[in-house]
Amino acid sequence: MRPSDLSRFKQNGIPIIALTAWDSLSAHLVEAAGADVILIGDSLAMVALGHATTLPVTLEQMLQHTQAVARGLTAELAQQPLLVCDLPFLSYQCGEDLAVAAAGRLLKESSAAAVKLEGAEPEVVAVIDRLVRMGIPVMGHLGLTPQAVHRLGYRRQATDAVSQERLLKQAVDLEQNGCFALVLEHVPSDLAERVQQTLSIPVIGIGAGDGCDGQVRVTADLLGLTAQQPPFSPALVDGRGLFTTALREWVDQKRIPPTTEATQPAPDC
Ligand code: KIV
Repeated sequence: MRPSDLSRFKQNGIPIIALTAWDSLSAHLVEAAGADVILIGDSLAMVALGHATTLPVTLEQMLQHTQAVARGLTAELAQQPLLVCDLPFLSYQCGEDLAVAAAGRLLKESSAAAVKLEGAEPEVVAVIDRLVRMGIPVMGHLGLTPQAVHRLGYRRQATDAVSQERLLKQAVDLEQNGCFALVLEHVPSDLAERVQQTLSIPVIGIGAGDGCDGQVRVTADLLGLTAQQPPFSPALVDGRGLFTTALREWVDQKRIPPTTEATQPAPDC
């Protein structure tokens, strides 16, 4: 799957399914589930590395996790889901040259074929323009942008008319500057529908209603593995409960002292 293939999904009205992965095991699961896109999201800072926000994860760590995800895929390269890697905080905010170097490294040293970055401030749009011109496909991300948690919080975004018009304009900017797709996170569904209808690139939603061209989820949330479940992404199974119970039962069984019979030495052969 190539980034440009996603536009066919939109043209044909086929929903795009994107799931996150952070290691070989999770990659194997989401590939087997049939995801079109695997996002190595910087949410792995929280899901896999135990941080409270996405900010601490480094480029080096994103690269290592992307390489691990690629090793977990089993289909032939042409049949594999598209791998998109998040550019971590401060890898693209400090200027276009550094952004090209960071994104280029991810594409050069892993099989990721695109990067995702957050926001549409003029500096970010300039970075996107440069990346795209350098041959690096970019997925945009608007609405709740977790790298801006200290400014925006984890609240639903664009809830008033002014911020909705701003977001719509930013979405158009991202398309005009070459993004091949846009993630919209935690925004009102009627706004997401307007964005979906305005843009010709696919709009992939999370907590943005059913009117998008596709859906993306953090796989650990769907599997009920995360400690704090986002309100817009309910778990499909109680993974924590399920696995903890299974492991506890095994631990409890193994704690039972062996019977006298079992401890007798094996007879000589
Ligand atoms: O980092 C991530 O997992 C993401 C998704 C929430 C879209 O950006």
